[in-house]
Amino acid sequence: METYKDKIDIKRLPEHIAIIMDGNGRWAKEQGKIRIFGHQNGVGAVRAASEACAELGVKYLTLYAFSTENWNRSQIEVDALMRLLSKTMSEELKTLNDNDIRLNAIGDLQRLPKYNYDALMKTIEATKNNKRMTLTLCLSYSGRWEITNAVKQIAEKVMSGEIAIEQIDEDCVSKFLNTNNMPDPELLIRTSGEERLSNFLLWQLAYSEFYFTDKFWPDFGKEDLYQAIADYQNRERRFGKTSEQLSDKK
Ligand code: IPE
Ligand code: IPE
Ligand code: MG
Repeated sequence: METYKDKIDIKRLPEHIAIIMDGNGRWAKEQGKIRIFGHQNGVGAVRAASEACAELGVKYLTLYAFSTENWNRSQIEVDALMRLLSKTMSEELKTLNDNDIRLNAIGDLQRLPKYNYDALMKTIEATKNNKRMTLTLCLSYSGRWEITNAVKQIAEKVMSGEIAIEQIDEDCVSKFLNTNNMPDPELLIRTSGEERLSNFLLWQLAYSEFYFTDKFWPDFGKEDLYQAIADYQNRERRFGKTSEQLSDKK
């Protein structure tokens, strides 16, 4: 059987894929279950996407797991998500190591409950020498939070004389973001049919290709990821130039 994997040109893989994992609650509701059941079933999709990306040779996979705005959900759901997260951290350590994946986390991590923060740091430490791929979890993260933070840090450096105003350019701003050591994602995927950014990687997604699918996150498997990559490879990324200018260069 032909699969989308066969359609992927391995030489033109995106180096960095970002995913807004959405639709867990609706997936659960469809089966008459509570929302947390959907989150629990989303873990398998995280494993599938991580393995698929690592196997193909994608260097960075960044997952939106919990937004700044998600703190406004019910205490019951927030608590359940936090517990699920630390449970997953310890249970998935073996998968991460088996696949040579380094775990990373960005966001306002100080807001996480201590037991959760500790579990996260432990897994990050235990995978720090892995080389094949960096898996970044965005937790208590939002793009505006991140940019505001960068602005504060740059302002401090200007006041202390470490940076001159003339030195503030796009590269400088990028260095003060949580993603400073990563390339920008070439491809953004969002599941569940919603077509918005919900405050995700606002700066970094400036020129990314967007891919939306109606599938809910727990149903998103390896084949869906291959399909998204194959679709991405059919796009023409012009970066402001014209199609003719791009083909002249070939
Ligand atoms: C995404 O699924 C997971 C998180 C935001 C934590 P949702 O929980 O948003 O599920 P829906 O969108 O309500 O279906
Ligand atoms: C975005 O999903 C955040 C995550 C996937 C973690 P939401 O479900 O919270 O987004 P909105 O509220 O529908 O925009
Ligand atoms: Mg949602």
